[in-house]
Amino acid sequence: MTPDSAAKPRIKVEPQSAHPGVVLVTLDRPEVLNALDYQTMGELTDALESLDTDESVRCIVITGAGDRAFAAGADIKEMAPATPVMLSVANNFARWERIRRVRVPLVAAVRGFALGGGCELAMACDMVVASDDAQFGQPEIKLGIMPGAGGTQRLTRALGKAKAMELILTGRNIGAAEALERGLVSQVVAREETLNAALALADEVAAMPPLAVRAAKESVNRAYELSLEAGLEFERRNFFMLFASDDQKEGMAAFVDKRKPTWKGR
Ligand code: HXC
Repeated sequence: MTPDSAAKPRIKVEPQSAHPGVVLVTLDRPEVLNALDYQTMGELTDALESLDTDESVRCIVITGAGDRAFAAGADIKEMAPATPVMLSVANNFARWERIRRVRVPLVAAVRGFALGGGCELAMACDMVVASDDAQFGQPEIKLGIMPGAGGTQRLTRALGKAKAMELILTGRNIGAAEALERGLVSQVVAREETLNAALALADEVAAMPPLAVRAAKESVNRAYELSLEAGLEFERRNFFMLFASDDQKEGMAAFVDKRKPTWKGR
């Protein structure tokens, strides 16, 4: 890594004054289709963790710079010389665990390619808004490797075994329409509308009571990890816990009084 490349930030973090509580995080290496090198992943993880400690941040939108890609995967040139020992000692993949633990909702705004680690990053987000020309795939097999940051697990949960197997074993992509039909993304919009649609979705989430949002996010994510019985128990505890919040009292009082609630996050 040259001193110059180290100096240039690989991501942009921009609070959105027109969207209170929403922060836009942009992967900013358009010249290599926002390939996720270690520096980018480090900056991204640090930024997400720092935003997660800021109570005023209610929803984060992640996107890719330029008009061709969300992210075309890990940086192949950087990764090429790796050995198992290097990968294990550097422990850079632990960053993906840190992203999974972010409590603020994450929305991926995907234009163009979301491949390999790019697809895995989109899937690590809570919701994905895609442009009509978005492409999702796990092409690692064509490089002699396989997905390593959640692809075999999250794509399988999202698409089902047969389709995930097809994509992962052939390296084929799927387009936005199929991704929508199969539940990988929650909205498909025209390319030029993608960011606005993601910010509008983030706005809606940001306007909701934050404790309830956090508890609901946590509970939905447990659906991936727990048995139905344990998941239902987890959900019920979170549901009961929210009745200790000021926002529950306010939300229900506002409904009865036919007025707009004011959330405190308490
Ligand atoms: C490094 C990349 C890159 C990547 C693109 N570039 N993807 N550099 N790592 N993953 C660079 C190209 O080298 C090129 O730089 C520039 O971006 C533009 O890309 P082109 O290939 O010229 O564009 P195009 O012909 O339109 O093809 C687009 C593409 C192709 C189909 C997306 O770039 C591609 O196949 N990229 C690799 C996709 C991939 O295999 N991803 C999985 C990576 S492994 P120059 O300097 O030549 O102009 C992975 C493991 C994840 O993600 C593990 C956890 C992190």
